[in-house]
Amino acid sequence: MSSTSRTPLIAGNWKMNLHTAEAVALVEALKPAVAGLDSVEVVVCPTFTTLYPVAQALKGSNIALGAQNAYTKANGAYTGEIAPQMLQDVGCTWTIIGHSERRQYFNESDALLNEKLHFARKAGLKVMFCIGETLEEREGGTMNAVLTRQVVEGLKGLDAAGFAGTAIAYEPVWAIGTGVTATSQQAEDAHAFVRKLVTDHFGATIADALRIQYGGSAKPDNAAELIANPNVDGFLVGGAALKADSFAAIVKAAAGVAV
Ligand code: PGA
Repeated sequence: MSSTSRTPLIAGNWKMNLHTAEAVALVEALKPAVAGLDSVEVVVCPTFTTLYPVAQALKGSNIALGAQNAYTKANGAYTGEIAPQMLQDVGCTWTIIGHSERRQYFNESDALLNEKLHFARKAGLKVMFCIGETLEEREGGTMNAVLTRQVVEGLKGLDAAGFAGTAIAYEPVWAIGTGVTATSQQAEDAHAFVRKLVTDHFGATIADALRIQYGGSAKPDNAAELIANPNVDGFLVGGAALKADSFAAIVKAAAGVAV
């Protein structure tokens, strides 16, 4: 089990999937499946267009709402962007920032992601900040340098209050959407490395309290083994979050409930 002082955080990243009716149907099925599981924190991150109906459907449940991205300004002439304050207006308490798909396809830099993180936290939005190496980087021996850069540049300047509403999602790019999950040992080694980085750069108190989620083909089959590691504090789930039964099974594994 992850450290008892850290509440496991399990979030579904729906990416660019599900129209309104499907999104609402998914949370309607999810609500009873995870009701009463209070030893964990559960979040769903739908598309921008389904946030509002999903927020209505989630009312009174133990599932929080998150977005997948948030811009660095509160309003203004930024065509196509969404402010953290607008996300809060529709009921979001969380956002993902720095997903590898944003880094890769939309060229989001460490500096921009750092700015997004600071702005979201100042607005009061909690952040799941994603990091992770590609297969080339892992096999080429630069994995630790990449993770170091992503943590040091991405979290630069974040204080204790900022960290209090921030989780890191370690998502090896080679495991995302591929069906290839990191082994339990690979995940634990990377998470321990990241926690040590945070200790060295931001201090032990912050590092001890920080939740580090694993992401990359997390499934009902491997969730219990992964969460058993001392430095794995939850999951950021893509594909398996699009079905209520598989996402609920991952939540239950993180809660220590036999499925
Ligand atoms: P996956 O995606 O679970 O489909 O691998 C995880 C993610 O990209 O957050």
